[in-house]
Amino acid sequence: MSKTTIFLGLLLAISCSWAWPYGETPVRGVNLGGWLVLEKWIGVPNVYDGLPSWVNDEWQLCEYLGYQEAERRLKAHWESWVTENDIIQLKNAGINHLRIPFGYWALEIPNGEPWVWGSWDYVMRACDWARKHGLQVMIDFHGAPGSQNGNDHSGHAGETAFFYHDSNFQLSTRVLGQVAKIFNASEWRNTVTIIQLLNEPVLWDDYNYRLDRLKQFYRMSYDEVRKNNDIAVVAVHDAFISSDNWYYLRDDPHYFWVMLDIHYYQVFTPEWSDYTCEQHWALPCRYVNGLRQANAKLWTIVGEWSLATPKNCNNQGYFARQQMGVYEVASGWVMWTFKHGAGWSEWDFMASQRNGWINLSGAITPQC
Ligand SMILES: *[C@@H]1O[C@H](CO)[C@@H](O)[C@H](O)[C@H]1NC(C)=O
Ligand SMILES: *[C@@H]1O[C@H](CO)[C@@H](O)[C@H](O)[C@H]1NC(C)=O
Repeated sequence: MSKTTIFLGLLLAISCSWAWPYGETPVRGVNLGGWLVLEKWIGVPNVYDGLPSWVNDEWQLCEYLGYQEAERRLKAHWESWVTENDIIQLKNAGINHLRIPFGYWALEIPNGEPWVWGSWDYVMRACDWARKHGLQVMIDFHGAPGSQNGNDHSGHAGETAFFYHDSNFQLSTRVLGQVAKIFNASEWRNTVTIIQLLNEPVLWDDYNYRLDRLKQFYRMSYDEVRKNNDIAVVAVHDAFISSDNWYYLRDDPHYFWVMLDIHYYQVFTPEWSDYTCEQHWALPCRYVNGLRQANAKLWTIVGEWSLATPKNCNNQGYFARQQMGVYEVASGWVMWTFKHGAGWSEWDFMASQRNGWINLSGAITPQC
């Protein structure tokens, strides 16, 4: 090998080294939930004051209030829900990643849609604080046009039209390309280290067709991200199906540096109402093998989880350690969410930390 080859190799090795050693040092993160994609149940103050109870998501809120009033309320919320002091507290608590959910309307609003413009500025402000205080950012495409899951957290509850119109794929891909380009700039490359293509697409009632479409979308948007950004890790959500469906993203050389995002909740669906507290606490242990296997293929994180259960279970500290400890068998975790406006501490990292349920300074060892 010539000196030049060695030099070039070294240069490549240096220029391709990540700001975060994924798979080696666990991601310990929080979601900035209820912020740039509104979620009423997170108890965001003032935004929903005086509105009829059926106004339940950001689309409806904007439509009901009209642009001017919706803008007034949303800007006040965007301005205050996440502060620099929050970011400093999170950093001091041992958090190393922020996952930032945003919707397509932050970067492009089709004619006739009621969204308020301006949330992207707040993404950039949060990234700026993250950089200043030494946190990594996972930018998360949470609200896709047509909705990929029909839930309020996609911005528009109801239909799941995302899968059924090419225009939705094209708009989403344009938005992700813009995001990738923005964060390829040298001042962001070491901060915004993960770009997530889509949060929680659901396949249920049209499984085969939607899975096919989702794989198409992942390829299309992956290519657009890579065209604009040669360094970010690209994360895909597992769509709530078994991880081996996604191993092609490791085996097919078309793709590189892909992360798998799995969400584990123990609440919402009826199956959980039969669980005893002990069963809740033990459940994460049943994920160990699956997480290990997935993580050997693709860096795997649990990008959403919480301490909520249908029953009142004490010992949230134990439950937290069981979860975090198991998720760190893979590449780490991101709790949903950083805070809750109505005092639901099981959903609130900062409260959980204040309550002594979560302490990131020691080792986290699950009992499995
Ligand atoms: C991304 O940034 C790198 C490093 O500055 C640069 O070499 C590359 O050309 C950029 N890619 C695009 C598509 O701008
Ligand atoms: C967190 O754990 C560390 C190490 O085990 C301990 O020294 C510290 O007092 C704990 N902090 C709190 C707030 O409990």
